[in-house]
Amino acid sequence: MASSSSPFMAKLSLALLVLFMGSATAQLSSQDFYSKSCPKLFPTVKSTVQSAIAKETRMGASLLRLFFHDCFVNGCDGSVLLDDTSNFVGEKTANANRNSVRGFDVIDNIKSAVEGVCPGVVSCADILAITARDSVVLLGGPSWDVKLGRRDARTTSRAAANNGIPPPTFNLNRLISRFNALGLSTQDLIALSGSHTIGQARCTSFRARIYNETNIDKSFAQTRQSNCPRTNGSGDNNLAPLDLQSPTVFDNNYHKNLIQNKGLLHSDQQLYNGGSTDSIVRSYADSQTNFFNDFVSAMIKMGDISPLTGSKGEIRKNCRRAN
Ligand code: HEM
Repeated sequence: MASSSSPFMAKLSLALLVLFMGSATAQLSSQDFYSKSCPKLFPTVKSTVQSAIAKETRMGASLLRLFFHDCFVNGCDGSVLLDDTSNFVGEKTANANRNSVRGFDVIDNIKSAVEGVCPGVVSCADILAITARDSVVLLGGPSWDVKLGRRDARTTSRAAANNGIPPPTFNLNRLISRFNALGLSTQDLIALSGSHTIGQARCTSFRARIYNETNIDKSFAQTRQSNCPRTNGSGDNNLAPLDLQSPTVFDNNYHKNLIQNKGLLHSDQQLYNGGSTDSIVRSYADSQTNFFNDFVSAMIKMGDISPLTGSKGEIRKNCRRAN
């Protein structure tokens, strides 16, 4: 008793606490982080995202997904953007990314535009976070203040991406534990999965579901089968919308579809399959406002995953390689 309350012990505990907090929860700053160093940051990013989406609406979805794939692998550190080098094989050829993840050219364009107005100041990791927000807004979804101050990783690995990004074959428990391991709740999982209200998936990602599963609307399965042949290897890259109703609008139709057994991916329908998360899906299907509110909090939480801050990492000049 006496020893644990001694001034020495108190100081030691405080020092340990500070040390622990410093390493475990590096803090991001508010969205004013670059207000002095790069006052034109937000309009610069937004106009480039806007022209990319004007050229191809799907790009908004692809850019949102890039941020997710960045944050789920070693935290939101821009690592997904790194090309392979002689020292490492990066994330671009990991299972979830190969022939699938896209938008790197758009990020390059945004980065050059930002470098044009304030060279060497804004990280690629922060550009991904702002780009994801702008994409959601431009497709009709909610807006939020993006926390900033992330720095960029100097290295990464394909293995980290293979371990970090959940595949569409996961069942509910595995999805929940993957999200929980990163500090995201089950509710965050259901809200963030609502991102599948926009964008496309390849036949290879949903073939097993539309041919073998029973918790799927019959006519929906038939429609999807018409452009996704049963045989592995044929038509693997044929695309279908993740949200059959409005794949270019950010709304709550994803959750409405799940209630009708019209989730495209196995992992989508897992969220509404007679289990503990059905009620959350129903609440979002019933109220787009609830969905938007929870989606915003979950995106902010996802953006907080293990950032590099302070003197860690670097501000990359080119998002594809370390300086
Ligand atoms: C819950 C676990 C998740 C799984 C298993 C999953 C899986 C997938 C798969 C398999 C695709 C289609 C890829 C292809 O066939 O090429 C996809 C697309 C997409 N995902 Fe997810 N995803 C998950 C969560 C998320 C989250 C949290 C977000 C965003 C915050 C997100 C955003 C997207 C978007 C926007 C697309 C469409 C991309 C495009 O059209 O280019 N996903 N996802």
